[in-house]
Amino acid sequence: MAATNITEEQWAVSAGYIAKIKEDNANFAVKHGRPRLAHTETYGCQQNVNDTERIRGMLSEAGFGFTDSAEKADLVIYNTCAVRENAEQKVFGRLGILKHIKESHPNMMVAVCGCMVQQEHICEKIKKVHDHVDLIFGTHALWRMPELLYRTMTEKGVVVDITDSDGVIAEEIPILRDKTEKAWVSVMYGCNNFCTYCIVPHVRGRERSRKPEDILNEVKSLAAAGTTEISLLGQNVNSYGKDLGIGVDFADLLKMVNDIEGVRRIRFMTSHPKDLSDKLIYTIRDCDKVCKQLHLPFQAGSDKVLRDMNRHYDKKRYLEIIDKVKSEIPGIALTTDVIVGFPTETNEDFRETLDVLRKVRFDSIFSFIYSRREGTPAAKLEPVLSDEEIHKNFNELLELQNEICKEKNLEYVGKIEEVLVDGESKTDRNLMTGRTDSGKIVNFEAPENSVGEYVKVEITRARQWSLEGKMV
Ligand code: SAH
Ligand code: SF4
Ligand code: F3S
Repeated sequence: MAATNITEEQWAVSAGYIAKIKEDNANFAVKHGRPRLAHTETYGCQQNVNDTERIRGMLSEAGFGFTDSAEKADLVIYNTCAVRENAEQKVFGRLGILKHIKESHPNMMVAVCGCMVQQEHICEKIKKVHDHVDLIFGTHALWRMPELLYRTMTEKGVVVDITDSDGVIAEEIPILRDKTEKAWVSVMYGCNNFCTYCIVPHVRGRERSRKPEDILNEVKSLAAAGTTEISLLGQNVNSYGKDLGIGVDFADLLKMVNDIEGVRRIRFMTSHPKDLSDKLIYTIRDCDKVCKQLHLPFQAGSDKVLRDMNRHYDKKRYLEIIDKVKSEIPGIALTTDVIVGFPTETNEDFRETLDVLRKVRFDSIFSFIYSRREGTPAAKLEPVLSDEEIHKNFNELLELQNEICKEKNLEYVGKIEEVLVDGESKTDRNLMTGRTDSGKIVNFEAPENSVGEYVKVEITRARQWSLEGKMV
């Protein structure tokens, strides 16, 4: 069943509250000689980054200015992630610090939103332990933020909205993006896969795809404003369109975005191995703007563990897909996600994960130690390995992959790559940084005004996590 978009009337209510806040903010600015300032912090995945851009879009329309410092802010918003325990601990840590800041800024408003607070037990904990939090809203309430914020500004006590509407789509929310040259564009929301370790389906609701015309219009207007790199986002992009029932799948969508004038690079994430069709592989191969890079999480190498994770493929099938991808698209960069220490994983099972790394030779991996998530099926399982054994395995995995990364990077030395200049390098202030078509980070000398430009760079040196080069 296709997802429902919110109605015009529903958005009109939110827009009405944006106008009311704007009036209040105008009075504030007259009284204080400065605009009311908001500070946002984002945890978690690109989906959350994109949601924060919507939050900032609504705040900007409501007359807020922005500040990088929580101390200077009149409104602090944490957009949170629940995928692993350490993501949640970070936010609790920040809230603790904010308590002290608020003591000397009593008028400061504090809001916590996103995946973490979509869980009832976390919401309760925040209300109990952090009574300086004024507003809590979950992922499904994003489009209602203007009303919730207005209530926070005018009512006493904490305002809470974590209703689970299983998700709607709100196309009307304005988006304020940081960069012009690159943009994230969500193509779908939610997830239906219920991997047994994962909280995402529980906090993001069911899969729902945006209509192709809404996505294409967004990309067209981005391209018209000078954006050349588009990253299409979804928890499982290759099941895009299944719920629409109009015969458009993710490969079709890629082709349509590929046809948009002004777009030069298209990236997308994340793909699930169970849905990776040959049609999609051919589309990546044939579309000139689609970057030759694929992020395909395999999570674990053991068939038993994959079954316990509810992943719907085995090691053999995963390696078959990779072989097909490599033979159709030679030189494609491959990345993945891996979990170490799933409760039923034994040391022998873990060897299978190492074997996949050796066989595929990923360009880079994102590896995580399993984190127990309350409410997921895996949370009921007793781990067979001790924490020590799991950490030992995790380190062995890192060591192996570090070697592979270095070797893969060495293959670039001497090549000339097209790089989109991103900005100043994080590691060396005298250098600029950018990414190749395959997604590799390259640091090199370039004029500061080259940000947003595509330049040719000869790769001169391979480092562990990045490349160095010189402009040619
Ligand atoms: N939808 C995407 C990404 C989801 S979250 C996908 O399926 O690939 C990103 C990664 O976090 C996952 O791929 C997984 O490797 C990791 N992850 C999810 N839940 C986790 C947990 N409970 N403990 C450790 N890692 C987890
Ligand atoms: Fe989580 Fe699995 Fe969905 Fe990815 S596909 S978000 S890992 S449930
Ligand atoms: Fe985290 Fe939510 Fe993304 S749980 S990984 S921010 S979908």
